[in-house]
Amino acid sequence: MSEGLITAAYIIAAILFIASLNGLSSQESAKSGNIFGIIGMSIAIIATIGAMVNKGDAGSWSYVLVGVLMIIGAGIGTRLALKVEMTSMPELIAILHSFVGLSATVIGFNSFFDHEVLMGAAKTIHDVEVFLGIFIGAVTFTGSIVAYGKLSGKINSKPLNLPGKNWLNIAVVVASVLLLISFINGTMGGFELLIMLIIALAFGWHLVASIGGADMPVVVSMLNSYSGWAAAATGFMLANDLLIIVGALVGSSGAILSYIMCKAMNRSFVSVILGGFGNEDTASAGDQEYGEHTETSAQEVAESLKAAKNIVIVPGYGMAVAQAQYPVAEITKRLRAKGKNVRFGIHPVAGRLPGHMNVLLAEAKVPYDIVLEMDEINEDFPDTDVVLVIGANDTVNPAANEPGTPISGMPVLSVWEAEKVVVFKRSMGAGYAGVQNPLFFKENSDMLLGDAKASVDAILTNL
Ligand code: TAP
Repeated sequence: MSEGLITAAYIIAAILFIASLNGLSSQESAKSGNIFGIIGMSIAIIATIGAMVNKGDAGSWSYVLVGVLMIIGAGIGTRLALKVEMTSMPELIAILHSFVGLSATVIGFNSFFDHEVLMGAAKTIHDVEVFLGIFIGAVTFTGSIVAYGKLSGKINSKPLNLPGKNWLNIAVVVASVLLLISFINGTMGGFELLIMLIIALAFGWHLVASIGGADMPVVVSMLNSYSGWAAAATGFMLANDLLIIVGALVGSSGAILSYIMCKAMNRSFVSVILGGFGNEDTASAGDQEYGEHTETSAQEVAESLKAAKNIVIVPGYGMAVAQAQYPVAEITKRLRAKGKNVRFGIHPVAGRLPGHMNVLLAEAKVPYDIVLEMDEINEDFPDTDVVLVIGANDTVNPAANEPGTPISGMPVLSVWEAEKVVVFKRSMGAGYAGVQNPLFFKENSDMLLGDAKASVDAILTNL
């Protein structure tokens, strides 16, 4: 493959990646966004193998190894993608980020041990690339593993509050800068990399462990950003322009997404990326007593819906678990056919990944124009007759308006302002952030306990 052809292929792949990001920004164009990404990545892989052949410094066994590893990787990826439930997607993303971090770390060490003789500024630049590549890679690696643990419920989602945690983080940053200076000056002959590796692994772990369950959406997008920067650092080490471009695209889009998430959750961006810097130690309101709750039946809910004019449906993670989106779409269709105004209210962090509810509702063919964002619907609750809260909890929790809980300050859907609220869930347990929900005990709230799909199906038969 000629050098010119490889450069052209890289430019085309980069353009396709930008078109892919653009496509993924809306539901209507998401499919074509995915296709652009797949074509771009295929071109990138072929061109990179072409560049490897051109260099001619790899033995023929290297190509066999690359081929075998690609087949194994593609096999594992395909199996995972086919098997994964929509509800487990965030943990899959988190664990995939950890692979990017791990590869940046390994490539960093490879680049340290195996590079041509460098002098002066070129050597300094190479040393900085190696140091930063390993540092960002190691932080991404352990941070993503903790995120995976928290999202899959294998690690407690409550924030870890080590004494003087902010000072620990600051000490790590100072120590890393000193190690970098020492590494560039060759004081310890590269031993600095090993010390920094241990520090960075612990730092990544601590950063994510310090962030509470409700702030996990920001962490996932932040790790997405870190994995992009780790890939860009790898691109510098391997002198691969496409990897630098792709890494920067992922890094910056992840950073923008983190910022949007922070705004939606009323959190400080700086505080979250510094591992909850400045957050007070919050007591969980899980054990607080709010009085008695009232239970209802599918038949009673069906009667209320028949009498209502304005209905809002607020879905959450439980709808995804129960796969209740199809009967929910059916109820919507039937009520709309009876001339009722049915709309959906979507919280920006409902479910476990950005846009989770929108994807499920689109899958069940709910029209886009009745699916509204939190800010678009929050003012309409006082004029709403019935709100159906289907498997949502933290995102409709009025405790967010009080100080002292892990969700304090997060804007929520003020469903309790409606005339009647029906909450679909299986028990009186707390939501993802572990905060008890006073909504369940309000006078105008009724609990419809049971699996959300079974409950919605039962309402359908009574409508
Ligand atoms: P959650 O607070 O997670 O509550 C979901 C509720 O669904 C639970 O209380 C559960 O109660 C109920 N549920 C589970 N399975 C059910 C089933 N089969 N049938 C009926 N109900 C069921 O939900 P949310 O309001 O969507 O809030 C999302 C939370 O996740 C927020 O804290 C958010 O910060 C966090 N988070 C979000 C993201 C993104 S990007 N969206 C990423 C990570 C974390 P029972 O067990 O009693 O049934």
